[in-house]
Amino acid sequence: MMILVTGATGSLGRHTVDLLLQSGYSVRGLSRHPGPGNVVADLSTGVGLADALAGVTTVVHLATGANSHDSQQTRQLLRAFAAHPVKHLIFMSIVGVDRHSFSYYRDKYLSEQLIADSGIPYTILRATQFHSFVARLFTGQQRLPVTIVPRFSVQPVAVEEVAERVIELVDAGPSQRVPDFAGPEQLSFRELAQQWNAAHSRRRPVWAIPFPGAAGRSFREGVHLSALPGDAHVPFSAFAHEHAQTKGL
Ligand SMILES: NC(=O)c1ccc[n+]([C@@H]2O[C@H](COP(=O)([O-])OP(=O)(O)OC[C@H]3O[C@@H](n4cnc5c(N)ncnc54)[C@H](OP(=O)(O)O)[C@@H]3O)[C@@H](O)[C@H]2O)c1
Repeated sequence: MMILVTGATGSLGRHTVDLLLQSGYSVRGLSRHPGPGNVVADLSTGVGLADALAGVTTVVHLATGANSHDSQQTRQLLRAFAAHPVKHLIFMSIVGVDRHSFSYYRDKYLSEQLIADSGIPYTILRATQFHSFVARLFTGQQRLPVTIVPRFSVQPVAVEEVAERVIELVDAGPSQRVPDFAGPEQLSFRELAQQWNAAHSRRRPVWAIPFPGAAGRSFREGVHLSALPGDAHVPFSAFAHEHAQTKGL
């Protein structure tokens, strides 16, 4: 069984490829850039997709583009299945996308609907925000004298645990929508920034500012949150401490 992982170079994709290889699967990563174990293809245009899909039985679709590019990429993938049908498509989505006003999440929901209507046997897993995604907000501000965050809470999840869940879904076969996968705690971005700064021995005030518009309302209402406790175990503070020890600031 040959598995194609789109988004193989991304935060989740890297761990998913490693775990699939450790589990004995034959794996091909898809990227727009050449690299070891990768096939080069562009999901925005479809160029290279036919070669990428040759001999593939399962696709783990983790690539994403901002805003309407996510559904555009999903459309290209589904189009390519006409000539290269697969037995199982696994799609990574986000908790609450069917009820959220954030444009990227609405587009993600469109991807889900395209897949569900495609006739391809599929599994859709929704997860909450990754630790690495939350951390990107803080590392991007490391030179500032303050940490500026949006005023709402998230339920962050370790990307390694999401990758483990993805492997279970590969093993399980097509299951349609499966239960959401979420982190063990809900924390405001202010609390997360304070944990991050403490772990990295940084003394900075944290400013929480409102996220504007209808998307801000959805975030404040917690549409992107899941029930507590989530299935994942690793708290954000553990991720922050490990990051401080292994990578520093
Ligand atoms: N980040 C989160 O907090 C979070 C939470 C829940 C669900 N998710 C979902 O989980 C999935 C993985 O997220 P992530 O944060 O790991 O992603 P990421 O780190 O942002 O990586 C994005 C990936 O998409 C690929 N990509 C982008 N445009 C492409 C194109 N035109 N053609 C081919 N590949 C393209 C990139 O590959 P190259 O640059 O190598 O081409 C890269 O590997 C996404 O579907 C995301 O929506 C994310």
